[in-house]
Amino acid sequence: MWRASRFLLSAATTTAAAAAAAANAGQTKVPAAAAAAAVTVKTPATITAAVTKDVSALPHTRPIYMDNQATAPLDPRVLDAMLPFMTEDYGNPHSRTHQYGWRAEEAVEKARKQVADLIGASPKEIFFTSGATESNNIAIKGVGNFNKAKKNHIVTLQTEHKCVLDSCRYLEMEGFEVTYLPVMKNGIVDLKVLAEALKPTTCLVSCMAAHNEIGVLQPIREIGALCRSKKVLFHTDAAQALGKVKLDVNADNIDVMSMSSHKIYGPKGCGALYVRRRPRVRLRSPISGGGQERGIRSGTVATPLVVGMGAACAVALQEMDRDAAHSKKLQERLLNGLQSRLPHIVVNGDLEHRLPGNLNISFACVEGESLLMGMTNVAVSSGSACTSASLEPSYVLRALGVDAENAHTSIRCGISRYTTEKEIDVVIEEFVKNVERLRELSPLWDLLLDGKSLADVQWR
Ligand SMILES: Cc1ncc(COP(=O)(O)O)c(C=O)c1O
Repeated sequence: MWRASRFLLSAATTTAAAAAAAANAGQTKVPAAAAAAAVTVKTPATITAAVTKDVSALPHTRPIYMDNQATAPLDPRVLDAMLPFMTEDYGNPHSRTHQYGWRAEEAVEKARKQVADLIGASPKEIFFTSGATESNNIAIKGVGNFNKAKKNHIVTLQTEHKCVLDSCRYLEMEGFEVTYLPVMKNGIVDLKVLAEALKPTTCLVSCMAAHNEIGVLQPIREIGALCRSKKVLFHTDAAQALGKVKLDVNADNIDVMSMSSHKIYGPKGCGALYVRRRPRVRLRSPISGGGQERGIRSGTVATPLVVGMGAACAVALQEMDRDAAHSKKLQERLLNGLQSRLPHIVVNGDLEHRLPGNLNISFACVEGESLLMGMTNVAVSSGSACTSASLEPSYVLRALGVDAENAHTSIRCGISRYTTEKEIDVVIEEFVKNVERLRELSPLWDLLLDGKSLADVQWR
């Protein structure tokens, strides 16, 4: 049973969760009485500690969170669902001999159904993992290894997530042939190019549903249909798409799909893998152990995390349309605000076929890292969290044909169900202030205003 109102939550544990979420969202002050009530509740120390803080102070001390593709805040309803399994219901879901185990198992099975319902699958086709990284590893290496004797060719895109690319590289070292397809300027794969890449030896196509850095949506339904017609298995990394856009494993002809909990307001450290039963997809999992999750992912299932992922999927199923409309509206507000005030900005990736709430923008003559340093009131990133430590320009933007100069100036903004219009307006001001300041310092900006480019400069 879901507690209806997002921030008017009644039960005591919910108050704790609401306070944490309100702090995350930089939103309303939790009334003192409610906070005091929460302190008396039997919840983990960290949560009660968060409630005893004056959460109204947090928005002033923390930047506005605009990095929701890296991770999203935990939904208070998700935390509510998880808490009992972190305290009194601590049984191992694989323990068959007592009620502690049975209760945990029942909760895991409920979560399995909640995940399945979100993607039109059967619960028997869902396997819990530690996240999309592990799911991608199991999917690619598992399908590859099972088919190796007969088919040893894999097709993927140059712009896939590192964990997909590295899993493919690993298989290359094991003797597989991998084709890394280019994408068009808008970040989307050309279906003709994909069709031409398929061979009689192709066992798997792996193509992500929504991009973590540039937000573009690949035509997965068409890719799935193509793969089905050629008897090639289709895997999609849906870490970013799950819960944000409609996914239906049957209509989309998906055979294997990777999911992550923390991108959909669930806990970190949890994910799932969908593996089709009819026609049956077989894989040889690279994880060895006790055979849990029917041998696909050995290791004790993390009950509280799995329960949280299930709850997050149930909320997403109910609220996806509302969330998408909200994120799209704020995305448009942000883009319109920036475009009306700043010339020479470019959105990277297709604007129409795009994850609601994602914008990846290059600001001409502005160095991305300097912009990030100056934007002290906004938490954004220059690309994916996994590669943002590197000073190399994004391999994803380079694959789109973005030149090194512009790839260095890109910033990714991710909007969540908690982002407000007011926050977007502050973000616009921060961008305008910092971009104008950096451009004033840039000799390249003067050149650009004079109608010249870097290519016109004569270096001595
Ligand atoms: C597209 C994509 N795939 C895979 C991952 C890895 O997910 P996780 O953090 O659950 O391992 C991410 C997260 O950054 C992602 O965005």
